[in-house]
Amino acid sequence: MKKRGFFVTLEGGEGAGKSTNLAFVRQWLQQAGHSVLVTREPGGTALGERVRELLLHRHELDIAPETETLLMFAARAEHLTRIIRPALAQGKTVLCDRFTDATYAYQGGGRGVAPERIALLETWVQGDLRPDLTLLLDVPVEVGLARAGNRGLPDRFERENGEFFARVRQAYLDLARRAPERIRVIDAGQSREQVEQRIAATLHEVVHGR
Ligand SMILES: Nc1ncnc2c1ncn2[C@@H]1O[C@H](COP(=O)(O)OP(=O)(O)OP(=O)(O)O)[C@@H](O)[C@H]1O
Ligand SMILES: [Mg+2]
Repeated sequence: MKKRGFFVTLEGGEGAGKSTNLAFVRQWLQQAGHSVLVTREPGGTALGERVRELLLHRHELDIAPETETLLMFAARAEHLTRIIRPALAQGKTVLCDRFTDATYAYQGGGRGVAPERIALLETWVQGDLRPDLTLLLDVPVEVGLARAGNRGLPDRFERENGEFFARVRQAYLDLARRAPERIRVIDAGQSREQVEQRIAATLHEVVHGR
């Protein structure tokens, strides 16, 4: 049986630079000999992309926090079953733009859903599967929002207020404090080159230390 592939996730608040750095991380991993599958959440499957559309872009919908959490995990179940687990079983490296830490940060920290409830769903949907490495891109809320604001129309989350994003950031940092081996905090408030350097150093340490 092949060794299970490496599972890497990118996390962080709005405009932290997840999507920007995805290409850099993919290239780094490919150069290190990994066969990389890039995907995102919510999304990654036909159903997941529809859930993404509902959750991010249907501003007319008033969605209760519990419903939002369940929809995230419904999309995640599909993503894991059809895409992530099969790829990992083939020995591929999976690189995902947001995953369950984002549910703890946004639906938990941001919207106030109890983390115990999220943990129940996490266990149900994922069993004991967790990312091997999570790069948490951390920026002050104003910096991230200013960056995201240059991109065009805000999504359902980007319309939230500064306090919401402060709670999201704090929840992410709390997760990192509790799982320092898995979650590596990257200061993403620096220039692109500096952020890439920090990411490369972290990948070097973790991937070559496996
Ligand atoms: N280090 C950086 N310095 C300045 N601008 C940056 C930096 N990194 C990314 N940006 C710019 O900030 C904007 C947001 O970046 P990006 O879309 O990668 O963030 P994101 O974390 O994926 O956001 P979202 O949570 O909304 O998906 C983009 O316009 C990007 O070009
Ligand atoms: Mg993005």
